[in-house]
Amino acid sequence: MENQISIFDTTLRDGEQSPGFSMNQDEKLRLALQLERLQADVIEAGFPIASEGDFKTVRKISEHIKRSTVAALCRTRKKDIERAAEAVEPAPKPRIHTFIATSDIHMKYKLKKNREEVLESAVGAVEHARKYCDEVEFSAEDASRSDPEFLYDIFTAVIDAGAKIINVPDTVGYAMPWEYGELIRKIRENVPNIDQAILSVHCHNDLGVAVANSLFAIKNGAQQIECTINGIGERAGNASLEEIVMAIATRKNIIGKETNIVTDQIVPTSKLLTEITGNQVQPNKAIVGENAFAHEAGIHQHGVLNNPMTYEIMTPESVGLTGNKIVLGKHSGRFALNKKLQKLGYTLGKDELNQIYVKFTNLADEKKTIKEQELLALVSETLPHK
Ligand code: KIV
Ligand code: ZN
Repeated sequence: MENQISIFDTTLRDGEQSPGFSMNQDEKLRLALQLERLQADVIEAGFPIASEGDFKTVRKISEHIKRSTVAALCRTRKKDIERAAEAVEPAPKPRIHTFIATSDIHMKYKLKKNREEVLESAVGAVEHARKYCDEVEFSAEDASRSDPEFLYDIFTAVIDAGAKIINVPDTVGYAMPWEYGELIRKIRENVPNIDQAILSVHCHNDLGVAVANSLFAIKNGAQQIECTINGIGERAGNASLEEIVMAIATRKNIIGKETNIVTDQIVPTSKLLTEITGNQVQPNKAIVGENAFAHEAGIHQHGVLNNPMTYEIMTPESVGLTGNKIVLGKHSGRFALNKKLQKLGYTLGKDELNQIYVKFTNLADEKKTIKEQELLALVSETLPHK
């Protein structure tokens, strides 16, 4: 489908690779089942050659996941590919994801191979992987710092060899959005057999533009986005799934695409990841942060209490919350305070409200935010007859 963007979740592979985020087999399985509830099109479950544990986990996930595709990562080496193939073998929809670096700096200092050798290795890997699995993805690691002419050649060759998905990683988060978008457009224009493959992108967040890069890529013809829950991943992380999905959903008229993601499963998935890893997301994180649907400033609270769309561009329910949060603090006004008191069963006259409001702001200066219990105590102390 032309307008459909496939969501490839790599929380369990690229996400888990970052310090402090490792998960055991049971935790990974729990998260994989939740990713399936979220309806991620592809779940990258791990890197089976990395360890016996990773192999077993990918295999276990492959036995349990029924609707999403399960992908396993491997280098272009035969042993890696065979291990990945064995790990995803039980999955109803398996994928082998093989990669090799294509930038001059990686080829010289890491692989110690020239372009011909890298191309040969990539083609050989895709051919070998196709013996085990119909769906093979090829990634050109560090693509955004690679010579575009070499990328066109290698992508053409791997598609001829049977790759169904070609992926263009911005491995070190170096590309600027318009630059990355142009690279995607040029790959579409210069890879003659591109229509036989799905064009995928994979962005890292070292300069904080992974989501912007993914969106520019969509505008220029990318069909699959690789991303992670809460944006976890190597160094500064990967593009965040929830931000991409909600940008597509919220600005549908301008982006013109859709995903299969069940958006009200976003917050439950984010919370499960937080619970498993013990790593909180920053309060101001878009979509899933504690403050993403919280309002403290009086003017904002007044607007939101009259019509949430004054300061909310999507509903909290659409991402799986039960509602927004009106936080009572020193920036709050009489309007929000009165609403809260009404909710607690108090109908106050103007003077009574003013009396409470003065005490409330003094307390808020001290306490930063006022809890329900503190507010109740304030009312019974100030207006004992109520
Ligand atoms: O960032 C990267 O290049 C990767 C590849 C292995 C896809 O994670
Ligand atoms: Zn990556």
